[in-house]
Amino acid sequence: MSALAIDPYLKIDDLTCEQRILAAKEKLGQRLVILGHHYQREEVFKHADFSGDSLKLSRQAAQSAAEYIVFCGVHFMAEVADILSRPEQIAILPDLGAGCSMADMANLLKVEQAWQALGQYVDVENQITPVTYINSAANLKAFCGRHHGIVCTSTNARRVLEWSFKQREKVLFFPDQHLGRNTGYRMDIPLDQMVVWDFNQPHGGLSEQQIHDAKIILWDGFCSVHQLFEPEDIDNFRAQYPEGKVVSHPESAFEVCEKSDEVGSTEYIIETVNQSPRGSRWLIGTELNLVNRLAKQSEPDGKFVHFMSPIVCMCSTMFRIDPPHLLWVLENLVEGHVVNQIKVEPQEAAEAKIALENMFSVS
Ligand code: 13P
Ligand code: SF4
Repeated sequence: MSALAIDPYLKIDDLTCEQRILAAKEKLGQRLVILGHHYQREEVFKHADFSGDSLKLSRQAAQSAAEYIVFCGVHFMAEVADILSRPEQIAILPDLGAGCSMADMANLLKVEQAWQALGQYVDVENQITPVTYINSAANLKAFCGRHHGIVCTSTNARRVLEWSFKQREKVLFFPDQHLGRNTGYRMDIPLDQMVVWDFNQPHGGLSEQQIHDAKIILWDGFCSVHQLFEPEDIDNFRAQYPEGKVVSHPESAFEVCEKSDEVGSTEYIIETVNQSPRGSRWLIGTELNLVNRLAKQSEPDGKFVHFMSPIVCMCSTMFRIDPPHLLWVLENLVEGHVVNQIKVEPQEAAEAKIALENMFSVS
């Protein structure tokens, strides 16, 4: 029998969908684990066996004994689950369209071109540690593995940079310029020693002198969600609520992070609000689904949670994982069909794993 098609699932009403997801989970039992990133919509998030930020979920994927790891998140997360799990385990992404626009801003060809171009001015293998944010394709993690580099997440970026500078004097950091800059600045690296590599220009649009003087070469990538937050959003909040506090994700712009009281990963943001005293008021600079959930959960504790932007900004790719797609992959598993498996080619996975293990060794 062939796999069940998606189309009929798109017409199933919410309640039926929910009941059938629960029934399929029950049938699959211990053979299944559902991982849910904090940005997932509530109707999907509530079915996750484990939730977390990228680091926590990658650890969960590495430790899970389940045969099927259904990742309610985006493509690079399911790739990491495949790389870190045992060969017989199967990583599944309910909708293959759930990518990450920031991850797509760097690709192997452009990074290799950059590496070669940098090589005309410096001894790249001995002077530069390549660091990729986990929000990147597996072949970029493999690039880092091949070149004695490392992966980082928003939780461990500082420790990863410290490790990187112990290996070599410079870092090429991709794809998120903001995470690189915000982390570097907190390590006392002056802004003028963190240059942006414009991957559409020869030599990244940089002079030989700029490359020689740079400590961190930042890829010209960004998150389309977090770039919507503005320093003025924080000014307006503080004018209205002088006692309020601000916490932002480090993918936000430098000026936003500088004006924030706290900066950290999605898990850090949640913990920070959870640990704050009753009556606290928070402005949060990260994705809307997380903020809405946190606002709802914090209300009974007498805490007030505000979203940073007047614009409704959600991660549209995270949002692609909806209950019908989740149900579709689960019922196929019940019927013995694997759909939407994410499989990284073995050589690439082995090299990517080196860079991921370097990260775990410093986290
Ligand atoms: P976290 O690792 O902080 O959850 O971030 C992932 C992400 O994609 C943020 O945009
Ligand atoms: Fe990628 Fe931004 Fe979405 Fe995170 S919020 S998954 S960085 S597009």
